[in-house]
Amino acid sequence: MTNDPRDRASDTPRDAQSGGGTRKAIYAAGGGLALIALATAAVQLDVVPRWLIGAGSSIEETAAATTPDDQFTPPARDAIPDSPFGDAVRRGEAIFTNTATNAGDHVGNGLSCSNCHLDGGRHPLSAPMWAAWVTYPKYRAKNDQINTMEDRVMGCFTYSMNAQYSPAGGPPPHGDDIYRDLESYFFWLASKAPTNVSLDGIGFGKVPKPEGGYDLARGADVFAANCAVCHGEDGQGQRDINGDYTFPPLWGPDSYNWGAGMSRIDTAAAFIKNNMPLSQPGSLTDQEAWDVAAYLDSHERPRDPRQTGTIEENRLANHDGDEILYGQVVNGVLLGQGTGPSPARAATMATPSAAEPQN
Ligand code: HEC
Ligand code: HEC
Repeated sequence: MTNDPRDRASDTPRDAQSGGGTRKAIYAAGGGLALIALATAAVQLDVVPRWLIGAGSSIEETAAATTPDDQFTPPARDAIPDSPFGDAVRRGEAIFTNTATNAGDHVGNGLSCSNCHLDGGRHPLSAPMWAAWVTYPKYRAKNDQINTMEDRVMGCFTYSMNAQYSPAGGPPPHGDDIYRDLESYFFWLASKAPTNVSLDGIGFGKVPKPEGGYDLARGADVFAANCAVCHGEDGQGQRDINGDYTFPPLWGPDSYNWGAGMSRIDTAAAFIKNNMPLSQPGSLTDQEAWDVAAYLDSHERPRDPRQTGTIEENRLANHDGDEILYGQVVNGVLLGQGTGPSPARAATMATPSAAEPQN
């Protein structure tokens, strides 16, 4: 198989009308003008893959040429059946690609599921949902129990989507229709996949830690050269004229919180190496991926919702041995104190007292 995720980005070719999940999310996020500007800039910079802007892909051109025999390919989007089940699949896809609009009561930051699980959860090595689906239920050390898919998704709402600062103040409760719809979508993506196996392309991959570790100053340079054009010099992403994110924030109050998998440097390095910069995954060296991952994760973000006592107590209980800067002093500042919600978000929260960072 090829190691170049770019080759696989077009495994699920779309025409310009139907649109990829990600592109749809970005397009849905804003008005036409901003999007035309975005697409134009992206094409000029040659920084966005073809599946994102829908430029000139066709089934003949891409599928045969780039799909290795052993790479599972989820069904094409237009194969979603016209039935009550198909309706649930469509609702699940909509929640996944535009989470704030379709499950907004439980979203406490500026992200959608598909910002980290690219191409609507189809993209290999961005923890694709078809590969995940066939491995649950399974044991997770993080909460020391057998996790159903519902438990696992609840975890991503709690940490990656920072549900503590959402209007409801937490993830969807067990049994919520949001899980029913998301699981219908994942189940359908995994159509005809074998079960209880680790499919090629699962997870984010692994990038070994460089012998000399990582360096935050070098990471800042990697960031300025390769990431700031889309995510902003300050890492806060970019919004359209409606205030919706066209490029997601990497740290600060609208990003994932300190309990999220992405706040661990090894996980972020693997995601970045295999998925970023968006148009050129695999272009960073392992060293650059670690340096820039550490740089991202050396900035404050919303608090770890599990913290009840001190940061140090929570570090020992939940982060001990992790590749994470939580609870460490960086440039004279103790990390993990939490940003609290942005003022706009605080105004939508049911219990604003939860906004107080507890150190
Ligand atoms: C900030 C990035 C981010 C966002 C946003 C995000 N996730 Fe995740 N997700 C991750 C990471 C990182 C992992 C792997 C976690 C780990 O290693 O602990 C993961 C893992 C998963 C898994 C398990 C994958 C596997 O192979 O076992 C599922 C399922 C999942 N996420 C679903 C979702 C859903 C549904 C949403 C939206 C409600 C979502 N995620 C939002 C980063 C994210
Ligand atoms: C061409 C624009 C572009 C460039 C350059 C780029 N990104 Fe991204 N990045 C995106 C987009 C768009 C997403 C959301 C993906 C989606 O929804 O399909 C994203 C998602 C992410 C995410 C997960 C979501 C979040 O907000 O946490 C991380 C982390 C990330 N990028 C890090 C980086 C890093 C590090 C670099 C530089 C090495 C980089 N990106 C370069 C466009 C870009």
